[in-house]
Amino acid sequence: MPKTIILSNRLPVQLQINEGEMQAIPSVGGLATGMKSVHQEGESLWIGWSGLTREEIPEALEPRIDQALQEHGCSKVPLTEAEVEGFYFGFSNRTIWPLFHYFLEYSEFELSNWKVYEAVNRKFAEAVLEEASEDDILWVHDYQLMLVPQMVREKRPNLSIVFFLHIPFPSYEIFRTLPWREDILRGLLGADLIGFHTYDYERHFLSSVRRLLGLEVNFNEINLEDRMTKVDSFPMGIDYTKFHEAAQKNAGQKDGEESDLQRRLDAHKASAPDAKFFLSIDRLDYSKGIANRLKAFEYFLQKYPEYKEKVRLIILAVPSRSKVPQYQLLKKEIDELVGRINGELSTVSWTPIWYFYRSLGFENLVDLYTSCDIAWLTPIRDGMNLVAKEYIATRTDKTGVLILSEMAGSANEMHEALLINPNNFEQIADALHQAINMPEEEQKARNTPMQKRLARYNVEKWAQDFMDSLLSHREMDPPYVARRLTVDLTNTMMEKYRKSGNRILFLDYDGTLAGFKNDPQKASPDKELIDMLDALYKQKRTDIFIISGRDKDTLGRWFEGKGYS
Ligand code: UDP
Ligand code: G6P
Repeated sequence: MPKTIILSNRLPVQLQINEGEMQAIPSVGGLATGMKSVHQEGESLWIGWSGLTREEIPEALEPRIDQALQEHGCSKVPLTEAEVEGFYFGFSNRTIWPLFHYFLEYSEFELSNWKVYEAVNRKFAEAVLEEASEDDILWVHDYQLMLVPQMVREKRPNLSIVFFLHIPFPSYEIFRTLPWREDILRGLLGADLIGFHTYDYERHFLSSVRRLLGLEVNFNEINLEDRMTKVDSFPMGIDYTKFHEAAQKNAGQKDGEESDLQRRLDAHKASAPDAKFFLSIDRLDYSKGIANRLKAFEYFLQKYPEYKEKVRLIILAVPSRSKVPQYQLLKKEIDELVGRINGELSTVSWTPIWYFYRSLGFENLVDLYTSCDIAWLTPIRDGMNLVAKEYIATRTDKTGVLILSEMAGSANEMHEALLINPNNFEQIADALHQAINMPEEEQKARNTPMQKRLARYNVEKWAQDFMDSLLSHREMDPPYVARRLTVDLTNTMMEKYRKSGNRILFLDYDGTLAGFKNDPQKASPDKELIDMLDALYKQKRTDIFIISGRDKDTLGRWFEGKGYS
């Protein structure tokens, strides 16, 4: 039975070894959390990196690791420490991630990292080739593996290959600064279908393809030598039912059934019923605008001091890519900002910011989503931002306010949220003020349509639409098929020509029979051309049509007395 091979750097689980014991913990990040639901539904194999380097895996544990991954429907691509360094911490997260999020000043262009990126992409491609049967569909994910589609295509020209980018695709002006820009584009074009979260990312990609590779683009199709690649936008959804039902369960909990975190949140709410909780959840990443948010929080309390002791900001910052210097600097900056703001503003009974630097399990995430009055997400740039969608999905009574950066892909679908520019502190302070004072009726009126959309266009529908788009692309009769004339192809054509009962030759004039001339009148047929056409026409059962945009008189004059039309 044909299967889908999901290929991504991250698997849905990450392996860790603690005191000789192996643990599998769920991965964070939109790709892993979103695809997990798709993976559980269908017939699929997920290939990726286990999170451990070769050096970290004791030989004795290797079979257990493979077995643990197999239980999750996964298989690993083993990576050495040097590979993880150059491919993951290096090219993926010190070149592509900052560049594609418009942090040009953070992008490093290191040839050695590029070489490792290429080599590791080849390793992933080889892992696929070992597993893939002819009818399978290969679904490659994200910026870490942009060369894989073409690498696989070269070995398996007929395999269905699709690619989805989970981060923004930057404008041509940014993308063109990358030294390996053509290689990346060609790598991606190995896919039959390339998906982006938004139309803007799609547009940027098509513009780069046109301008850097000079390829012909028809609407959203790119004409390649012998096939077409389709490009489209598919905004990723969430597992709405999972979040909504978990929130319903959470609301129905009896005393004593709650988690520790929920109990503490409830206790704080009970002690100050009018207080408002602001929530922000992100990986600790400079693209998420966490430092800006903290500064904006301070600004809000200066502008509206009446809310001191009445609001609390809960920040969940999930550790991420902590070996990359920019992430280390950011961690330091956030630690300092939280310390300074809390130090300056705290009172005996009030700490303005609760800061958690860790990842939380699903139940605790739902505790936070359901307990906080306002979700405040201010990425400077974000491919989608699923946290915004998850927050709305858990608001079972439809209350709650979402303040969302217009730079997040999800802002395109969540018009009813309070959309802000993450650099405009004045606007942010006013949005917080508006959110605190928003009547419940208005909260419900805003959240109802958003919930409906999230329920309808959930992650399953997203994956289905993506696959349907591939199927319709495969079934479509291409308007033409251009093939390079190889010796084999020429021989086949000659053979068929010889054997055919009746032949009609349609011959284009300018640019084919005669070369283009500056003065078109000088392109009249010479003796060599006329002799060749006569020879063709003399063959039995052969008609000749000359196709030209020139006027009838000219053609009539040139080919007077000839039998061809
Ligand atoms: N998440 C998680 N545990 C945490 C915090 C977040 O599993 O402690 C999940 C969250 O539910 C969401 C994902 O991580 O599905 C973050 O995705 P998003 O698109 O918001 O951002 P990304 O991390 O992909 O840039
Ligand atoms: C984003 C990326 C994913 C990545 C995730 C977590 O969502 O699009 O590809 O897996 O962040 O980052 P990490 O570096 O931990 O895999």
